[in-house]
Amino acid sequence: MDKLLIRGGTPLSGEIAISGAKNAALPILCASLLCTEPLRLTNVPQLKDVSTMLRLIEQMGVRVTREGPDSLVLDSRGLDNPLAPYDLVKTMRASILVLGPLLARCAEARVSLPGGCAIGARPVEQHIRGLQAMGAEIQVEHGYIQARAPGGVRRGLQGACMVTDMVTVTGTENLMMAAVLAEGETVIENAAREPEVVDLANCLISMGAQISGAGTDKIRIRGVDSLHGAEHAIMADRIETGTYLCATAVTGGSVRLTHTSAAYLDAVIDKLLDAGCEITTEREAISLRAPPRLKAVSIRTSPYPAFPTDMQAQFMAINCVAEGSAVIRETIFENRFMHAVELIRLGADIRIDASNAMVTGVDRLDGATVMATDLRASASLVIAGLVARGETLIDRIYHLDRGYERIEAKLSQLGAQVTRVR
Ligand code: EPU
Repeated sequence: MDKLLIRGGTPLSGEIAISGAKNAALPILCASLLCTEPLRLTNVPQLKDVSTMLRLIEQMGVRVTREGPDSLVLDSRGLDNPLAPYDLVKTMRASILVLGPLLARCAEARVSLPGGCAIGARPVEQHIRGLQAMGAEIQVEHGYIQARAPGGVRRGLQGACMVTDMVTVTGTENLMMAAVLAEGETVIENAAREPEVVDLANCLISMGAQISGAGTDKIRIRGVDSLHGAEHAIMADRIETGTYLCATAVTGGSVRLTHTSAAYLDAVIDKLLDAGCEITTEREAISLRAPPRLKAVSIRTSPYPAFPTDMQAQFMAINCVAEGSAVIRETIFENRFMHAVELIRLGADIRIDASNAMVTGVDRLDGATVMATDLRASASLVIAGLVARGETLIDRIYHLDRGYERIEAKLSQLGAQVTRVR
C-alpha cells in the first residue's frame, strides 16, 4: 500500500492548475447511461473513483473511449446489463448514482445497497422514496436494491412531486436523472443547491433534458422521450481548490491556482480572510498570500452555500497551528472527526464533544506516522504534515488517490518536499 512521506516546513509557492471536480464527474458519467448517442466529456479528473465508475458502467455495456488524458467519449448504445455488483459498490458509495439513470433507460436496475462508511451510516432511503413516488417498484433483498418501472420501458417512470426529508446531494442527482425521461413533470423540493448538481443539470440540458431551477431548492424537470449526444466540460473542483488554499495558508506561502473559480467558494474564502489571508480572484484563478501566523476560525458545516463538510478536516488542520481557539461543528455526517486523533498524534490540541471539536492552536506540530481514514481526513493530514517539524509518513493514501489528482506532483510543483513511498 502506498504511503506519502512529507518533510514539513517549506512555504508553498508558485502556480498549479486545478482539476475537474470528482463530485461533478461521477454523476455526469452516470448521465451517459440515459442516452444512446455518445457523450463527450472534457476536464475529467484522473482519479481512482472515476476509474471505478468507468469500470462499473463498462460492465453494463457502455463503450468508453479515451481521447486524451482528461477527455472521454461514452457510448451507451450497447447498455444491456443494468447491474451494479457489490464488489464495485463497496469500494465507492457514489455507485448508487447509476440507480436513477438505469431505471429511466432500462425500466429495471439491480444495485447493491451501499453499506455504512468511515464518516457515517449514509443511508439512501431518500433516493428510494423518490423513485417510488415516480412509480418504481422497489425491493431491498439480499443486500441489493431491485427496482423496476411496472409498465416496462414503454411506459417507464411517471413524473411526481416530492420533498426530500433532508438535503441530499446524490439523492437530488439520482432523482433528477430518473426524471429526465419520465412521463410528465417532476418537482424536487428541498433539493441540494450544490454547484455539482448544477453542473449535472447543465450536462443533461445539453443532452436535451428540460430542467429548470437547478441551484435552487426547487428543481422542475419535464420528461422528454429521449436524450441526444452532447459535449460537456466538467466544472473545476472547488474542494481541491480549497484544500490547496489551506495547504498554502498553513505553510505561510503564496500561490496562484488556475483553471478554477472563486464563484463557489464564498464560505471557504470568507473563513480564510478571517484567518488573516490575503486573497485575490480573477475570472478563472485564485491567489492566496498567507500571514506570518493564522488566526483560529470557528466553522459550522451545512449544505451549500454554507460551509462545506468536505472542507471541515482541512480547516481543523489549519486551526491546529493557528493563534487562539476555535470550535468546529459538523452537522452533515455523524462520524467525521476521525482525523482528529491522527492530528493529536502530531501534537495538536483537540477535544471532541459529540459533533463539536474544540481546537486550540499550538506553537508547532511534530512529524509522526499517521493513518488516513477517509478522503478529506487524508487531506487534513497532508496539510498538517506540510507544517509539522520533521517527517510525517501518511499510511493508506489510497483514500487520497480517490479524490486528488497527482497530489504529490502538484505539491512538489509548489515546492513541498513530498514523496510517494511504494
Ligand atoms: N442522508 C440520509 N438519507 C438519504 C440520503 C442522505 O439520511 O437517503 C443523510 C446522509 O447520511 C448525510 C446527509 O443526509 O447525513 C447528507 O448526505 P448527502 O446525501 O448529501 O451525501 P452524499 O450525496 O452521499 C455527497 C458527496 C460527499 C459530500 C456530501 C455532502 C458525492 C459523490 N459525494 O455525498 O463527498 O460530503 O455530498 O456535501 O457527491 C467527498 O467528496 O469526500 C464526499 C464525501
